[in-house]
Amino acid sequence: MGILGCGNVGSELVKLLTRDAELIFSQTGERFVITAVAVKSLDRQRPSWVETSFLSADADAVVSSPDVDVVVELMGGISPARELIEKALVNGKSVVTANKALLAVAGAELAQLARSVGRDIFFEAAVAGGIPLIRSLRVSLAGERVRRVAGIVNGTTNFILSAMSESGLSYEQALALATEAGYAEADPSADVEGDDARAKAAILATVAFGRLVRFEDVYREGITRITPSDIDFAKRHGYAIKLLALCEVSDAPDFGSDRIAVRVHPALVPADHPLALVRDSFNAVFVTGEAVGELMFYGRGAGGLPTASAVLGDVIDAAHNLRYGVTERQLDREVAAIVPMNELSSRFYIAVDVIDQPGVLAAVAKVFGENLVSIRSMEQIGMDNEARLVFITHTAPESSVKMTLDGIRELASVRRVAGFIRVFDPS
Ligand SMILES: NC(=O)c1ccc[n+]([C@@H]2O[C@H](COP(=O)([O-])OP(=O)(O)OC[C@H]3O[C@@H](n4cnc5c(N)ncnc54)[C@H](OP(=O)(O)O)[C@@H]3O)[C@@H](O)[C@H]2O)c1
Repeated sequence: MGILGCGNVGSELVKLLTRDAELIFSQTGERFVITAVAVKSLDRQRPSWVETSFLSADADAVVSSPDVDVVVELMGGISPARELIEKALVNGKSVVTANKALLAVAGAELAQLARSVGRDIFFEAAVAGGIPLIRSLRVSLAGERVRRVAGIVNGTTNFILSAMSESGLSYEQALALATEAGYAEADPSADVEGDDARAKAAILATVAFGRLVRFEDVYREGITRITPSDIDFAKRHGYAIKLLALCEVSDAPDFGSDRIAVRVHPALVPADHPLALVRDSFNAVFVTGEAVGELMFYGRGAGGLPTASAVLGDVIDAAHNLRYGVTERQLDREVAAIVPMNELSSRFYIAVDVIDQPGVLAAVAKVFGENLVSIRSMEQIGMDNEARLVFITHTAPESSVKMTLDGIRELASVRRVAGFIRVFDPS
């Protein structure tokens, strides 16, 4: 096999393949020989178990080598990862990748290429790191009518939200802590703005529902606007705030036939729901199927070793398929029809800062009423010369709530809409 990349994940994969070679053979009957590991810089210091003799700066040669049957892409990014994977497939190699960013934009084309050349492309580690989620959806639940996949698929943001909730930190302080602990990258935007979770949601929805959900089809909001005040309110009212990836199909009339709702946004999760209890950088995903009911997958969503564990499982499957001349089921997927956000309904948390004077609450409440958004609860928090009105609505269409917010912003007595978070409905 040839490996592209020897960073966090690649070096741990090399460790597992060398250290556990006998165990892997006894459990699977497969022996793996690493013929080359491509890296960017040959001068970089590598862990002691990485033999320098198989390091190469020529990734092109790795995907063309006749000694390589399986190519493992662990370099990340779109280019040249995409071209190298394409070349590997055309050259008759099966491919394993953990590259969610690439799969979210080119997964369908790569799967089609793999099918046309009679080879596999596996990507278990691209979503939720070490958690065996993709294979469960693809194989174990292949005949299941999956209705919903909902969960925490980004460890960095879960670490930040956990630190804000448990230590009372601001978003900026919690981000600094995540960076210090190695959970956030120097440029954390893909995590905190929700794009990493968005790529994973696109992959999950595609695998779970059998139709192609593209990255750009996934609505996303990140966590950068979550404040300690939002977290405090949520805690006092029995919720935790989590960044959720939500993928659903429904027969409900408001979904239309066969449409998929898929989005990433912060949500108030009832404190007694298992997702609310997922702390630190862990991931957890709930899968709801018609026959199987609810399943929960929980574990390390990132980290070199857990991710390498998932990659290793794929490598073994790829080798097994090559040995027996078979490939995984790969369907030609139609592009999914997506439910626009405006057509979805949920409950909402809305915080509004107003001038503290008589009649303001009535004026704000009137705007809710005019847009047929019913208020479930309201709390008033006093501030200097201002008051914060915090509402939880009953279930209402997103479009009506957006109109309500527009109307509220126009009131002279309103300073700002200070918070707007959807409430997760576990049922
Ligand atoms: N880290 C995780 O926890 C995690 C979890 C799930 C999925 N993933 C995915 O796994 C993949 C790898 O992540 P990682 O954290 O291991 O990344 P990383 O530590 O940055 O390692 C990337 C490796 O690729 C090599 N590389 C980069 N560009 C190259 C090029 N043009 N030619 C040859 N080699 C090149 C680098 O070489 P040098 O060492 O010489 O710089 C490095 O060894 C990514 O797609 C990531 O999204 C990672």
